Amino acid sequence: MSKVTVVGAGNVGATVANVLAHKDIVKEVVLLDIRGDFAKGKALDTWEQAPIDYYSTMVRGTDNYKDTKNSDIVVITAGIPRKPGMSRDDLISTNAKIVASVTKSIMKYSKKPIIIVVSNPLDVMTYAAWKASGLDASRVMGMAGILDTARYRAFLAEELNVSPKDLQAVLMGGHGDTMVPLPRYTTVAGIPVTEMIDKDKLKAIVERTKKGGGELVKLMGTSAWYAPGAAAAQMVESIVKDDNRIFPCCVRLTGEYGLKDIFLGVPVKLGKDGITQKLELKLNKTEMKGLHKSADAVRNVMKTFEKMKIS
Ligand code: NAI
Ligand code: 2OP
Repeated sequence: MSKVTVVGAGNVGATVANVLAHKDIVKEVVLLDIRGDFAKGKALDTWEQAPIDYYSTMVRGTDNYKDTKNSDIVVITAGIPRKPGMSRDDLISTNAKIVASVTKSIMKYSKKPIIIVVSNPLDVMTYAAWKASGLDASRVMGMAGILDTARYRAFLAEELNVSPKDLQAVLMGGHGDTMVPLPRYTTVAGIPVTEMIDKDKLKAIVERTKKGGGELVKLMGTSAWYAPGAAAAQMVESIVKDDNRIFPCCVRLTGEYGLKDIFLGVPVKLGKDGITQKLELKLNKTEMKGLHKSADAVRNVMKTFEKMKIS
């Protein structure tokens, strides 16, 4: 794998390009944006950082899809972010058209890329990209679960006064307030988290996680980018290195967990061909109910998308 395109050179896209360059695992990153020379500036800034931070990945900026030719992986971050008071779902009228048109432009120049969607509302935008791309569903996925679990793990690490490195967790569902963090699948260096923290504190952390995106929008007036950018770059890394790492990602379900015809976050393996396996955990009744409630919330946003009749 040698070429990754990142569409959208704003807060998240520029961070994905920068983090990826630092990983030094691909030959070239192309950063594309419709904002005139903006992507060129962001890319040049990251390239000028290479002699300081020691990486060889070439980062180029452009506003022309011809430069994305033969991309192995494409990360789509184009679109508007939330402002205070907005939900992710409020973004659909603008972002659905952007994601569909970006995907089509990408497909003109790359035959079989793997597409990672970041734009919100994430689950429905991933569906939009899949539909517009004509690709097999194993090659189109959305980034949300890595970010949401990272927030959950960071909050737990702080509460328990342990390194975030020792927190492992699974979280499922849509990228919204109905997401389902799973304490039963959360460990601290192998120790079940439930043995380390009292119930009420854990419950409060689960609730904070669900609203973690909104917390940052309130603080900054726009949505987050460092953790989201790093999360998308981590997905790219697992694919490029064919690591088969297990991450919660937004993928097309075809009957898993009793759900089908929907893009939703579940744990998957990521390797050189994209999603190499979807894992089916033995959820208990409450967890399964939470997952289905989250699926219902995504299906509601899907209805708005379908009404837009984007072809
Ligand atoms: P931003 O406003 O900083 O950057 C978006 C960029 O997209 C802008 O530079 C804009 O010029 C560009 N753009 C718009 N239309 C385009 C088009 N047709 N082609 C190419 N570029 C286009 O926004 P930010 O903060 O980078 O967020 C981007 C998206 O990612 C938002 O929809 C946001 O909600 C979403 N997001 C999703 C996360 C997730 O966990 N999935 C986490 C954080 C953000
Ligand atoms: C986040 O969770 C806005 O989806 C974005 O930060």
